[in-house]
Amino acid sequence: MLSKDTIARFGNLETPFYYYDLGLLDQTLETCRSAAEKFGFHVHYALKANFNEQVLQAVRKTGFGADCVSGNEVKKAIELGFDPGKVVFAGVGKSDKEIIEALNSDIYCFNVESVQELGIINGLAAERGKTARVAIRINPNVDAHTHQYITTGLEENKFGVNQWELNSCIKELKACPNLKLIGIHFHIGSQITNLEVFKSLCVKVNELNSWFEDHGYQLQILNVGGGLGVDYHAPDENSINDFESYFSIFDQFLERRNDQEVHFELGRALVAQCGSLISRILYVKNGLKKNFLILDAGMTELMRPALYQAYHKIENISSLSDVQVKYDVVGPICESTDCFGKEVELPESIRGDLMAIRTAGAYGEVMSSGYNLRERVKSVYS
Ligand code: LLP
Repeated sequence: MLSKDTIARFGNLETPFYYYDLGLLDQTLETCRSAAEKFGFHVHYALKANFNEQVLQAVRKTGFGADCVSGNEVKKAIELGFDPGKVVFAGVGKSDKEIIEALNSDIYCFNVESVQELGIINGLAAERGKTARVAIRINPNVDAHTHQYITTGLEENKFGVNQWELNSCIKELKACPNLKLIGIHFHIGSQITNLEVFKSLCVKVNELNSWFEDHGYQLQILNVGGGLGVDYHAPDENSINDFESYFSIFDQFLERRNDQEVHFELGRALVAQCGSLISRILYVKNGLKKNFLILDAGMTELMRPALYQAYHKIENISSLSDVQVKYDVVGPICESTDCFGKEVELPESIRGDLMAIRTAGAYGEVMSSGYNLRERVKSVYS
């Protein structure tokens, strides 16, 4: 449960809104920073998880780089003071305009996702008399054992180049004088809670690292992406991830040649726990078979439950009742999937009670939409 003082602050605020505990965010970032430093690892924060400016400022102060997946994310990171030398740009569909802007900003690296993209970046760099640093995103065909919609490293996924295309990549690179290959990049999926999966990734990265060496390329960077999951069931207890155990897997199982750097692109594990969606109950509908709590927030504010059947802990932060009732907690949007949780056991609730939907700091506000002409969701900080 959120603290009493925090809840007291919400009293008269207009709902719904995202609440961010910036103190918890700082602690999470610091825990991650010091663990990464211990192993000499580099972290780029995946902006896609949350690009709220206050969140980004906190991340920037920690000294992390920025992992971006659109021209606007690149622009935003640089505008907010991230060093362009620490900005990487991934994505299967970079437009020419986005590539040109990134080249003009002298970003650190393009994570390239197809053979064709190599040629396009080379051409645009050549026209500007520039050399673009690139890392090839390789699809390692490692199963992340996570939800099928957020797994990305299998051959059936659209991301990266497949291993059987690597010879073509080398051939293309040889024909691209305005590209400098600096590394290889992987990302196998998100919300990964079984750390064994990362061992399998390390084995694959080692294999491919050797392959490049055998083909005459000394890579500077091994970028293993992000994906570390969080515990959505325990927003209060041990809510900061054990970054040290996570990094130590890579320290143990990844073979680093010479001074090779290891880069990570963490999103969720850094920002999920510090955010909650705060909403008010508009109506209570008691039926014969079901009781519904209808909130003033819906899938337009937090899409994860509707899109992935994702679990978020739901709390009534107003009710003092001892009576427990099972409710389906739903939003006001005209879609049946607009449901935050079914048969959720909560203290007896009434119109006007405040509800907190927890662990919503990652892929929450950023995925909100204006569907049904809803107003853009606001944010509150402490
Ligand atoms: N790097 C790449 C190339 C990625 O595609 C992603 C996430 C990350 C890093 C950061 O992954 P993280 O550490 O946050 O797991 N909307 C979904 C998650 C989509 C993740 C997309 N890629 C959700 O709400 O669960």
